[in-house]
Amino acid sequence: MDWGLIDRYAKSLIKEAGHKIRLSFFDHIHIDSKSNANDLVTNIDREIEQFFIEQIQTSFPGHKILGEEGFGDEIKSLNGTIWIVDPIDGTMNFVHQKRNFAISLGIYQDGVGILGYIYDVLRDELYTAKRGEGAYVNDERLPKLGVASIEESIIGINARWVVPNRYIDHEKLLGLIQDCRGTRSYGSAALELAYVSSGKLGAYVSMRLSPWDIAGGMVIAQEVGAISTNLEGETPSLLGPEPFIVARAGLHDELLMKYIQRKR
Ligand code: IPD
Ligand code: CA
Ligand code: CA
Ligand code: CA
Repeated sequence: MDWGLIDRYAKSLIKEAGHKIRLSFFDHIHIDSKSNANDLVTNIDREIEQFFIEQIQTSFPGHKILGEEGFGDEIKSLNGTIWIVDPIDGTMNFVHQKRNFAISLGIYQDGVGILGYIYDVLRDELYTAKRGEGAYVNDERLPKLGVASIEESIIGINARWVVPNRYIDHEKLLGLIQDCRGTRSYGSAALELAYVSSGKLGAYVSMRLSPWDIAGGMVIAQEVGAISTNLEGETPSLLGPEPFIVARAGLHDELLMKYIQRKR
């Protein structure tokens, strides 16, 4: 497999998709809701996913594609080459703010993340990684992450996970909110993964993320030494929604042991 070629192709596809998204700001956008009134999707989410799928299918007919909006393949196993794409991660931000959203893409070979991309369309910042070859933001190499304590770290978390919920012991989580330096919620899991990888956040925690939210970011995180797991400390399966934690090495252990426990 010529991963260099696939890498160059994926980058140009992402840049073109970003350009289409920026152009959409001049048009009327149709907004629908999916599972509930706050679960938004627009015609742009759908059009961008279809753009990715048409291009990838034409250029790499043997590859499979998993996309949030359902235009790709039904994926039951990670065998083969799979492109996992979120055309707009942070649709609510896209609709309300026209910023703080990203395109996320991960390319996996038999379950192993080889290439990862997160494109902050508005800032024109493209986070990339190739397995074993480091991570970059545009042309700048991201350094390996050093150690940091909870007390000196900003934690990415959505306030909804700190109110009683069915996944997690929220009182322990309250301890984390008290002990850490501060919390942030950007509303795009992909960007939050990019921020952990580039040292802007110490960790990012969510109780329910889908494969397309994390596939690209996990490849980038791995290259700077951040650890991505579910609540059991296992690598996410990328076959369905799961709780998700990404953090620099020491922090990840402390989060799982002390603060983030599955509800019994
Ligand atoms: C959502 C965003 C959000 C996260 C949600 C995701 P979408 O993705 O990443 O930050 O909290 O769980 O579903 O729907 O905007 O692509
Ligand atoms: Ca969505
Ligand atoms: Ca998403
Ligand atoms: Ca999305």
